[in-house]
Amino acid sequence: GRVAVLMGGTSAEREVSLASGGNVLEALRSRDVDAFGVDGVPALVELIGKGRVDRVFNILHGGDGENGVLQGLLQALGVPYTGPGVLGSALTLDKIRTKQVWMAAGLPTPRYVRLPGGDDRGPEDIRNAARELGLPVFVKPSCEGSSVAVSRVLTEADLDDAVEVATSYPGELLMEQMVVGDEFTVAILADGTTHHTLPSIRIVPAGEWYDYNAKYVADDNQYLCPGLEGRAEDEIRRLALAAFETAACSGWGRVDVMRDRTSGAFLLLEINTAPGMTSHSLVPKAAAQVGIGFEELCWRVLEGTTG
Ligand code: DAL
Ligand code: MG
Repeated sequence: GRVAVLMGGTSAEREVSLASGGNVLEALRSRDVDAFGVDGVPALVELIGKGRVDRVFNILHGGDGENGVLQGLLQALGVPYTGPGVLGSALTLDKIRTKQVWMAAGLPTPRYVRLPGGDDRGPEDIRNAARELGLPVFVKPSCEGSSVAVSRVLTEADLDDAVEVATSYPGELLMEQMVVGDEFTVAILADGTTHHTLPSIRIVPAGEWYDYNAKYVADDNQYLCPGLEGRAEDEIRRLALAAFETAACSGWGRVDVMRDRTSGAFLLLEINTAPGMTSHSLVPKAAAQVGIGFEELCWRVLEGTTG
């Protein structure tokens, strides 16, 4: 059938998505899939209306592509798509709600305070949140990706700026305790109806932390894969899979995890349900480690289509 590789869109991660989408499109075509690129949800709807789409490879990052809106639409229209369904997508695009569900299930995640969007929040709320958590903290919009508008705040003087930057994006804000330790990510692929993890990656950013620039521009980060050995590697992979399934996810995804340097404990940060497929991205690196090349990876994700 004809596969629409859905990319671009209108979110803050548009450019990242176009880079991911171009790679996916090329990979599927080299596997003789009848694939074509589509920029944004309205263009896709038009093509579906004309009967030109049999299946969607969704590589929109953030916004309506990753928050359940697209998934509901495609579900209603009976068009199969890659990645989790409505519930898993809607839940995991919201970092606060994802943490709430994990906590209810007894899964570990850094302490945080939820801050309302712009108008419903006073300066005291910000200071109180920082005192409750203790600096340093990260301030993030609850529903963006790729570290867009995320700040690391070391001193109280920098709090207001961080909150203002995050407030320029819709929805609530998250102030999260900074974990002193190492950053990991675990990719998950589907095998029929069961899911399995790929080896973890330990990210050693060249700069202070793994921000947008480190993610997509810098060429001097270090990626260690597998990120851990023995029991610790088993543990992080089990935890990532539990986090993924607890959050109603399916298909494929990537779970970001910190490890506290002092205690060795793992703490879950978030799930990405349309993870990056750029030349700098992490799922392709983890797949390569177990002999799954980029084309094969795209093929497997497509085969894991829901619906
Ligand atoms: N949100 C970006 C695309 C990622 O997680 O890879
Ligand atoms: Mg993300």
